[in-house]
Amino acid sequence: MDINITSTPLETARAFADYMLAQHQQNGQLNIALSGGSTPKILFDLLASEYKESFNWSDIHFYWGDERCVPPSDSESNYKMTVDHLLSKIDMPEQNIHRVLGEEEPAEEAQRYGQLIEANLPSENGNPVFDIIILGMGTDGHTASIFPHEIELLDSTKTCEVANHPESGQKRVTLTGPVINAAKAVCFLVTGESKKEKIKQIVDAEDVAQNYPAFHINPVNGELIWFIDEPAASLLA
Ligand code: 6PG
Repeated sequence: MDINITSTPLETARAFADYMLAQHQQNGQLNIALSGGSTPKILFDLLASEYKESFNWSDIHFYWGDERCVPPSDSESNYKMTVDHLLSKIDMPEQNIHRVLGEEEPAEEAQRYGQLIEANLPSENGNPVFDIIILGMGTDGHTASIFPHEIELLDSTKTCEVANHPESGQKRVTLTGPVINAAKAVCFLVTGESKKEKIKQIVDAEDVAQNYPAFHINPVNGELIWFIDEPAASLLA
């Protein structure tokens, strides 16, 4: 596990953007799974401004690691957030944008989206392999839309599953544990003081961390990088 600590959320986003650019320069085409959350929003603004000309966007394919089951025009949609902050500002061909159809029936969409990913990505040991999966972590230790009360989704044999938000009951489509752990790189973007306890427990592998889905993300053959800011890192030794 690599931990990259920066001073502010903007610097955390910049550290990831530099990593993504280096991967692009090395490999050309990249299949990336995006995340919702506050730090990705800052990342998207940064990519759309300072990094806009640095990428050949037609070489990049975007998927989503999780999506809320709402229409693409809904303010809760991770796709909409990405359109507003990034996709509307860069020249990425439409066919490179592979969104979850949040407006469709969740179980059918989880199946369709899983099949699309399996058809488009290379596979290893039966799992599709993303070049980069971006993840956040909630204050309850959830990641993508795998929440502590549905931690069994970490072991699902499917590519995508339907998850339920613990408080609102909102349905979501999420990548499962084996697919996340098959990626060449998994990058957590986590900022803010509210995450500091969970980060310490995860880094120190405390017993309680077993209950946090984020703790179980550990790519089989790929790299795991936590991009975090100083407040989130403040309890680390
Ligand atoms: C989502 C997510 C989710 C998110 C975390 C952290 O769509 O809700 O993908 O896993 O990344 O909840 O969100 P924050 O960065 O806003 O705390």
